[in-house]
Amino acid sequence: MARQPSPDGMHGPASSLSRRAALRRITLGGAGAGVGMGAWTASPVVAAPADASAPPRGQPIPALPEPGLRARDPEAYWTRVRREQFLLPDDRAFLNPGSLGVMPRPVLQAVFDSLTRGAEYPSDDVPRWGYESLEPERAEMASFLGCGPDELAFTHNCTEAMSFIAAGLDLKAGDEVLTTNQEHGSGISCWRVKAARVGVVVREVEIPLAPREPAELLERLQAAMGPRTRVLSFSGVTSPTGLVLPSREICEAARARGILTVLDGAHMDGQMPVNLRDLGCDYFAGSPHKWLFAPAGCGLLYGRGDALDRLWPTVATGGWDNRAGLKSARFMMIGTNNRSTIDGMIAGVRFLKALGEEAAYQRQQELSRHVLHAARQRAYIETVTADDPRLYRAMVSIRFKPEKLEPLWSEMRSANIGVLSGQRIRISSHVHTRKADIDRFFAVCDRVLRA
Ligand SMILES: Cc1ncc(COP(=O)(O)O)c(C=O)c1O
Repeated sequence: MARQPSPDGMHGPASSLSRRAALRRITLGGAGAGVGMGAWTASPVVAAPADASAPPRGQPIPALPEPGLRARDPEAYWTRVRREQFLLPDDRAFLNPGSLGVMPRPVLQAVFDSLTRGAEYPSDDVPRWGYESLEPERAEMASFLGCGPDELAFTHNCTEAMSFIAAGLDLKAGDEVLTTNQEHGSGISCWRVKAARVGVVVREVEIPLAPREPAELLERLQAAMGPRTRVLSFSGVTSPTGLVLPSREICEAARARGILTVLDGAHMDGQMPVNLRDLGCDYFAGSPHKWLFAPAGCGLLYGRGDALDRLWPTVATGGWDNRAGLKSARFMMIGTNNRSTIDGMIAGVRFLKALGEEAAYQRQQELSRHVLHAARQRAYIETVTADDPRLYRAMVSIRFKPEKLEPLWSEMRSANIGVLSGQRIRISSHVHTRKADIDRFFAVCDRVLRA
């Protein structure tokens, strides 16, 4: 991010500020770059980007625009949200929060405040996470996810949570783990390790990229469940194309056959309402740094009822077997850690709630519709995502008919459009995405592929 002097003149040499105030106002980048050179630059951590219309550096984070504007002029409302709450430069179109999201300013501020508290360390009761069970934070996240605090642990990412589940379950040679052919590497590799090590059989069910309706997905998986199936592990929203599976119905069908369900929810929290009790899965792994505005390095591990008690720990330290005392926090006893990411993650949940969960989810889907509509106007593109709005949310997928696409990706880079590349791509939109960003993406496609 470009670091520019503050137009409001609020920054200055750290020596002109009280030490505590100076610490609060040191930019993360400026501090890191400046320490060795004796050139600390002081300015608010949530500095605004190089966008003349964004609030200048040094200003407090503005309140969200009034919701009436959202009803009257949604584009103006969301553009203001982006400009005032995010640091994304105005000329940047970012169409890949599905890989890793971006933090809004309140989250960045929470991370910085947390790190500052840790560095000031004014008393012994300042938590610096590593061996804490974080009850209030787990309670807040649990209430957001519709589960009990003792059913939830924080991990570093979804990969770790999936590995904790797969490695932690007692399965024996010949037990079958059913999954799909559209899993992310992190959703399947944990089971492949189990296959190599223990001899479980991993069977991938082929599911269509564009089913006729959600029931088709349920039928495929249901038909594949057999007498040796012990576990069904699948993504609630798939990574390759953003396809939404009917998770609740699938979990219900598996439960009726005594099969444990593991829901890879990397793309669920922050993209759709998640109520874990309602979903009925036995285990859930989440990735709040994608859609929930969390800092990179945050994950969620859920086990229904006492399901986490049944898992062996994969990372162990003192307390590894203290089920009664630690409950789900047993899985957070993993050595010294970075507490500030947790504070940032909680700020992310609060940010989403302040926006209004439903409003954010609707906006994401509206942007996906915009992508699909634009794609359908172009003969050189095929839409992969099916029309049925039950089958997609914030991510849709398109396929380019021409094969020579390198010039396209090169133009995208020049135009500062952040998007995945490939013959078939997934386009993700979040609340900071403007329709104009999507239009710009298609304008570049037209320029290169219609030429
Ligand atoms: C479906 C799915 N599962 C798991 C992961 C891994 O998530 P994380 O990077 O949080 O470990 C991803 C990442 O893209 C994903 O798409």
